[in-house]
Formats: sequence, structure tokens, C-alpha cells
Amino acid sequence: MKNIVVLVSGGGTNLQALIDAEKSGSIKGGRITCVISSKEGAYALERAKNNGIPTRVIPRKEYPDVAAYTKAMTEALLEEKADLVVYAGFMTILDEQVVKAFPYKMINVHPALIPSFCGKGYYGLHVHEAALEKGVKVSGATVHFVTEVCDGGPIILQGTVAVENNDTPETLQKRIMENVEWKLLPKAVSLFCEDRITVKDGRAYVDL
Ligand code: GAR
Repeated sequence: MKNIVVLVSGGGTNLQALIDAEKSGSIKGGRITCVISSKEGAYALERAKNNGIPTRVIPRKEYPDVAAYTKAMTEALLEEKADLVVYAGFMTILDEQVVKAFPYKMINVHPALIPSFCGKGYYGLHVHEAALEKGVKVSGATVHFVTEVCDGGPIILQGTVAVENNDTPETLQKRIMENVEWKLLPKAVSLFCEDRITVKDGRAYVDL
């Protein structure tokens, strides 16, 4: 069984999708062993506690810079003996120290079709605001490996939704979460835990 450590910063609906998937037996070969939040009081921590999952808080604001924060996070992940690290609404950037410690062992869910609307500054509702401003007719979400390049690692799974004329950032976010994120993230986690994802020449290949 692989140890899955989930990183969160906010509401934790993606964490909830992972918890529900584990409970229903659809995550094969892994179990969530710890949830780590970058923020005190994040509702995601309640979701973990309600399900008996150990939690840790490593507050971003207590560290002077990205390097110091990454060092603390990397140490915690090593202590937790993480086999897979899942960024589930984790809003803090970590540097290459953690990527070196967990190469192709960290996955992130991003609420757009990478390479659109991604990279520094594109997180949460900002992503959907940018998509609506551009007038795209489809959007979606991407699950990808985390590398040194923000939102730039090999793509594992993507899914789409239609954008409606009267969408707001909130309605688009909700449609993408419900139809794509909450399904694809648990699926990618299970595929990883079953060793069904390989990376070659910067591309991920999934044995579906
Ligand atoms: C989700 O839409 C997730 O894809 C996004 O933030 C939301 C978190 O919701 N993540 C990012 O933008 C990361 N760049 P949640 O806390 O309810 O899972």
C-alpha cells in the first residue's frame, strides 16, 4: 500500500473526493495517511479529522521565503514516508528541493486545460476569470506531475466542460469541479498507486 500525503490550503473539496474514493474502494494500492495544510483553520483539516486522517499544519506565513518553507515541507513529507504527494487546492509554490526529493511522485490538479491559464498567479477563481475574459468555449481541468516549472510537468489526465454564455467564475469553477476535478484526481491517484503511469522524455503515458 502506498502512503498518500495530501497538501491543502482551503476548502478541500478535492480532498473530500479523494476520501470518498478511498472509502468506496476505488483507490487501489494506496491510502491517505496524512493531510498537510499551509494555512491554520483551513476547512480541509476538518474534513481530514472527520475521517480519522492525521493532520499537520505548516503555515506559509511563518517562513521567510520559498526555500525555507520548502525545506520544512520536504522534511515533513520524508517523515511521513510519502510515496505519493497530492496537491489538492494547495496554493503555495514550493521550489526544486521537494521535486528532487519526490521526482514524479507529486501530482497537482489545476482547474484549466494546461497549457492555457496556468503558471504563476493562475490559481483558484483567477483561472476561471481569465478563461471567461478570453471567451473560451471549453475549459476543464488537468492532473499533472509537479516539476520545477509551475503547472509545467507531464500531463496525466485532462477533462473538459462547455463554457456557457452566462457563466461567472463561480459557476464555471463549480461545473469544472463537479464534472472533472472530483473525478479525475481520484482516478489519477489510483492509476499512480497501481503503477500504471510512466514518464518518458517528459511525457506521461497512462495504461488506462
Ligand atoms: C480547485 O479548483 C483546484 O483545482 C484549484 O483550487 C481549487 C481548490 O478547491 N487549485 C489551484 O488553482 C492550484 N493552482 P478545493 O480546496 O475545494 O479542493
